[in-house]
Amino acid sequence: MPFVPAQTEVNLGGVSVSTWTYGNQVPGPEIRLRKGQRLQAPLTNNLPEPTTIHWHGLALPNPMDGVPDLTQVATQPGQQFDYDFVPPDSGTYWYHSHVGTQLDRGLYGPLIIEEPADGADYDDELVVVLDDWIDGTGTNPDQVAAELRKTGMAPMTDMGPDAGITPKTPMGADGGDVAYPYYLINGRIANGPQVKNYRFGQRIRLRVINAASDTVFVVGIPEHNMLVTHTDGFPVVAREADSVIMGMGERFDATVTVESSVPLVAVAYRKDGFARLNMRVDNRATTVNVDDFATQLANTSPLDTATLVATPEVNLPAGDPDQVVEWRLAGPGKGYEWTINGQAYDPSNGYRVEPNRRVRIRYVNESKMVHPMHLHGHTFQVMAENRAAGQLLVPKARKDTVLVAPLATVVVDVDTDNPGKWITHCHNTYHLESGMATFFHY
Ligand code: C2O
Ligand code: CU
Repeated sequence: MPFVPAQTEVNLGGVSVSTWTYGNQVPGPEIRLRKGQRLQAPLTNNLPEPTTIHWHGLALPNPMDGVPDLTQVATQPGQQFDYDFVPPDSGTYWYHSHVGTQLDRGLYGPLIIEEPADGADYDDELVVVLDDWIDGTGTNPDQVAAELRKTGMAPMTDMGPDAGITPKTPMGADGGDVAYPYYLINGRIANGPQVKNYRFGQRIRLRVINAASDTVFVVGIPEHNMLVTHTDGFPVVAREADSVIMGMGERFDATVTVESSVPLVAVAYRKDGFARLNMRVDNRATTVNVDDFATQLANTSPLDTATLVATPEVNLPAGDPDQVVEWRLAGPGKGYEWTINGQAYDPSNGYRVEPNRRVRIRYVNESKMVHPMHLHGHTFQVMAENRAAGQLLVPKARKDTVLVAPLATVVVDVDTDNPGKWITHCHNTYHLESGMATFFHY
């Protein structure tokens, strides 16, 4: 499928904006392949500035990773670049621009790699792409970034030593740095939602993707439980949940049996507003008050998919780490700088690790804000402390993006089996743009 990013007018369900898109639509066109099929995406850049495409979550060959300065030269306006590779794993992924603040325009879309067995235990699929939207509403993401650099966005001071962490606010009191006028599901604002028609009792597989730039979401459906089956593409031991929290870049799959007409709601965590999509069953009107439900959803104790357990076939082989890398996350400093181990991102200065080894990464959050930390080219295994068994670390979900709560540490293990230069960064667009990235190489 050719990709020609360009400036476009789009209607977000009642609000028209001028923005940058793939294929004149938000989200960009869905890519759907069967496992083993080749992804061919020739890019022609019709934007006024350089761009790249990153294929989020895939263990792809390094030159296809789409990181400017690190894995390729960004494609200049009018120029072309050929993305061409075979995605190695099935699951729910996505693609997006990896240059500047372009992700916070409309430059993202879903990427689904199907397994032969997919569809055996559900009747239909629903891809749900979440976003926070500001572009074309009187400002644009470059202006947002400039404003943040100017005002600095001082850390909140009244949160106490725990940074405001409670069961209902597991990621702390700070909901982000940007107040967005709109939150979207599949490119539609909450007042002009997409409507999906179902029959009573149909089993739907949800594939939920958080493509936002500065918004963690809590997702739920009134009167229904979700059976969470995958996170970041990889299967987990299925678990029922009435709400799931997801950072920017994270995905989860869940099955739900629809029994009444309801909205699917994604509340912006510790912000004002929500996104919605309407699931209509047998053409009936809903009896749910969406505002009340959103308030209720904001007060649940949501499931963090990092705490789920990988199914045995996707566990990394048991083994102790050969090497430990610690990445301390801090900010914001002067001029809204965010750092890892005291350094802002420098594509010429990374961390050397050994090939064909088990590397343990410790993401240590020294700031009072949550950071969804993402590693390219690998799916790590989250390792959680098992207090009952002393300080032992036990394997949890396989993931590529994980929420690191304020003042918390998240430990993940990864096998170095895909050589190259692999960036790790906060998936908050403005933190990444302000330095919160580094890379390892082997
Ligand atoms: Cu989804 Cu480096 O990004
Ligand atoms: Cu961050």
